[in-house]
Amino acid sequence: MYSYLDHLECTICGETYPHAQPIRTCPSCGKVLFARYDLPKLKREVDRAQLETRSGSMWKFSELLPVLDPEKVLSLGEGDTPLFKASRLGGKLGLSNLYIKDEGLNPTGTFKARGLSAAVSKAHELGITKVTIPSAGNAAGAVAAYAARGGMEAHVFMPRDAPAANKIESEIMGSNLTLVDGLINDAGRLSRERAQSEGLFDLSTLQEPYRAEGKKTMGLEIALQLGWRMPDSIIYPTGGGTGIIGMWKGFYELLDLGWVEGKLPRFIAVQPEGCQPIVKAFNDGADVSELWPNASTIADGLRVPHPFSDYLILKAIRETGGTALSVSDDDMVRAMRDVASAEGLFICPEGAATLVALERLLEDHFLDPDENIVLLNTGSGYKYLDLLRN
Ligand SMILES: Cc1ncc(COP(=O)(O)O)c(C=O)c1O
Ligand SMILES: [Zn+2]
Repeated sequence: MYSYLDHLECTICGETYPHAQPIRTCPSCGKVLFARYDLPKLKREVDRAQLETRSGSMWKFSELLPVLDPEKVLSLGEGDTPLFKASRLGGKLGLSNLYIKDEGLNPTGTFKARGLSAAVSKAHELGITKVTIPSAGNAAGAVAAYAARGGMEAHVFMPRDAPAANKIESEIMGSNLTLVDGLINDAGRLSRERAQSEGLFDLSTLQEPYRAEGKKTMGLEIALQLGWRMPDSIIYPTGGGTGIIGMWKGFYELLDLGWVEGKLPRFIAVQPEGCQPIVKAFNDGADVSELWPNASTIADGLRVPHPFSDYLILKAIRETGGTALSVSDDDMVRAMRDVASAEGLFICPEGAATLVALERLLEDHFLDPDENIVLLNTGSGYKYLDLLRN
C-alpha cells in the first residue's frame, strides 16, 4: 500500500473526520487537525528495512504521507537531505556528536519544499486547482514551484520587504504575487479574504493538515540516518512551528511502529530577539502566546509574531524537556560565517540561530557535550545574499 492515511483528528477536541474531502481546521473547534495513519496495519505489513533502500526524496516515507495515489505526487526531489557530522565545529565546542541536517539542499532552497510538496500534492489529489498562501517568503516560493508542477493556480502574499529571492522565484514560477505592507499575519488576512472571494484553498501553516506531514519527514530521516535512533536534542529555528510539530508527531509514529525506541529528543526552539512570542510564553509558563509587537529580524522566516499553533509548539517543547531561547541578529550573521568557514555549509540566518543557541546552552550546562545534538539548518544562505553584502 502506498499511504496508510486513515482519518484526521483534532488536536484539541479530539473529534475525528474523514480525509476524502478538502478540510482545513477542525470544523467543531477551529484548531489544528492531525493526519492519522493505520499504524497497526502498517506495522504488520511493512518492515523499516524496506525504506532504507529507497532514495531520492521524502516520498520514500509514502506510507506515512497523506497522498493515496502515487500518480498525484508533485515532487521536485524534496527531502532525503544529508545529516552532516559537524566534526570541526563540534571539535571547537568540545562536542563529539554534533550534526547539521542541511535543508538548504531542497528544491527552492529550503525545508518549505517538504511541507508544500505534501500539501499541494494532497490538494491536487482532492481536485483543488487554485491555492493561496501567506508567507514570510520561503513558503511562497515553494508553493509557486509545486503549483507550477501540478498546473495549478497559486496566489502568494508576502511582506513587501521579504528577500528578493522569494519574490523572484514566486514570479518566475507563475504565481500571482501580492506584496503586503505588514507581516505574515497581515498577509494571512489578505490571503483568507482572497480565498473567500475567489474560491481558493488556503494553505496557511497548520491551518490545513498536510504541510506538517511533509515537515515531519525531517524527523523520520534523522532517525533513519542515525541508524533508527532518535538524537538527544534538536535545536530548531521556530517561526510558525510546523517543523517542530511535524517532527514531534513523526517521532511518536516511529515509536508506535516500533521502528525506534527510547525517549523523544528534547526540542529546543530558537527565536530572534526581535520576534520571540514562543520564548516569552515558555518563560511565562503560558499555554499560548501573545502577539509580539513590532516584530523585526533579519531572519525573515522567524518573523511570525503570533503562531496559530503556539499551543502545540509549547507542548512539544515542554513534553520533551526542551527549552526556548532568543538570539540576536548580529550573532546569527556571525554564526553563518562560522558554520561556512568551519564546515563548508552556506546556511541561512534561521539555521545559524541554532548554533548561537547551542553555544549558549553549553555555557549554561543545559546541554551535555556527549549528547547527540542536531542543528536544523532550514535553508540555503544563497537566498539571503543581500544580508552579507558589505
Ligand atoms: C528558512 C526558514 N527557517 C525557519 C522557518 C520557520 O519555520 P516553522 O514554521 O517550521 O517554524 C521558516 C519559515 O518561514 C523559514 O523560511
Ligand atoms: Zn476540534
